[in-house]
Amino acid sequence: MPATNTTLRTLSADEVLASLKDLRARQPVQYSAFYSSQLGGIVTDPALMVLPFDDHMVHRGHGIFDTAAIVNGRIYDLEAHLDRFLGSAERSRLTLPGSRAEMRNIIIRTTAVSGRREGAIRYWLSSGPGSLELSPAAGATPGFFVMVFAGLSYPDRWYTEGLRVMTTTYPIKPPLYAVTKATNYLPNVLMQMEAKAAGLDNGVFMDPAGNVGESSNMNLAFVTSDGVLRHPKFEHVLAGCTSLRLLELAPALIGRGLLTGVEVCDIPVDDARGAREMLLLGSSVKVAPVVEWDGRPIDDGLPGPVARALLQLLDNDMRTSDRLIDVPY
Ligand SMILES: Cc1ncc(COP(=O)(O)O)c(C=O)c1O
Repeated sequence: MPATNTTLRTLSADEVLASLKDLRARQPVQYSAFYSSQLGGIVTDPALMVLPFDDHMVHRGHGIFDTAAIVNGRIYDLEAHLDRFLGSAERSRLTLPGSRAEMRNIIIRTTAVSGRREGAIRYWLSSGPGSLELSPAAGATPGFFVMVFAGLSYPDRWYTEGLRVMTTTYPIKPPLYAVTKATNYLPNVLMQMEAKAAGLDNGVFMDPAGNVGESSNMNLAFVTSDGVLRHPKFEHVLAGCTSLRLLELAPALIGRGLLTGVEVCDIPVDDARGAREMLLLGSSVKVAPVVEWDGRPIDDGLPGPVARALLQLLDNDMRTSDRLIDVPY
């Protein structure tokens, strides 16, 4: 910010562009390509990846998003992510800027322009600019944005040693908002910051009935002492595409003697604390073992075999399943 005794100048368009480039030079990011319906195309210079300030998604959080992974030059499970995206749009009363096929096509073509063969694609739908009101501006054009970037990365230690988590002091989102992937992540952000401030890796939301919810940007699952993989119901947590896929893949572990069953049910916190394994699941984290929760070890406090086996199943699916879309680089 300029010092208080500096004159505040009105900037020219060139000066604004120079400042945006300077900002990105000081704060390098790994954003490879960005499509904006408002700009009418794709840009690859991160300084140009911008939105109008009065876009409703920016100042009111009236927008939704989703993220799919790029694995070995192909996009994984995009249809499942688009299903959820469209569900979030409907619940948020957002108008689609085009058909599902058009949005899918823009996602694939933006990925191709990025040249990225490993990473993530995040895409947003906003109700558009035009006012600072609560309801969208009259005649506002919905915005569609696609960002291709390096993806979120987590320490190797999470997989080799496991994570340490705490029950958050922040309340879980009410079900309608928890199942909608809107740009309102304040509880999720505060939960993760709280855990990090306590020297831990992440937080755990509880629902008002005392059942386990989810983590910041990941689902939670447990392996009971008798070998059942248990996942919370999707009524009060986000329906994670990773969780939904793993629930389909996990029965393969029953035959291998690692699991005795797979269940989606309410999980009271006391039952969860007695689990043999506790897992975090998500597109970015994939499958990571939790070894300590609220200062108490999960079982023997070591990563367990189901976490490892599920990670292998998922890794394999991400490289070989029929849920991969080729990118025309
Ligand atoms: C709150 C929340 N829960 C769960 C997940 C896991 O979902 P997915 O497996 O689709 O990444 C995410 C990530 O999108 C999330 O933000």
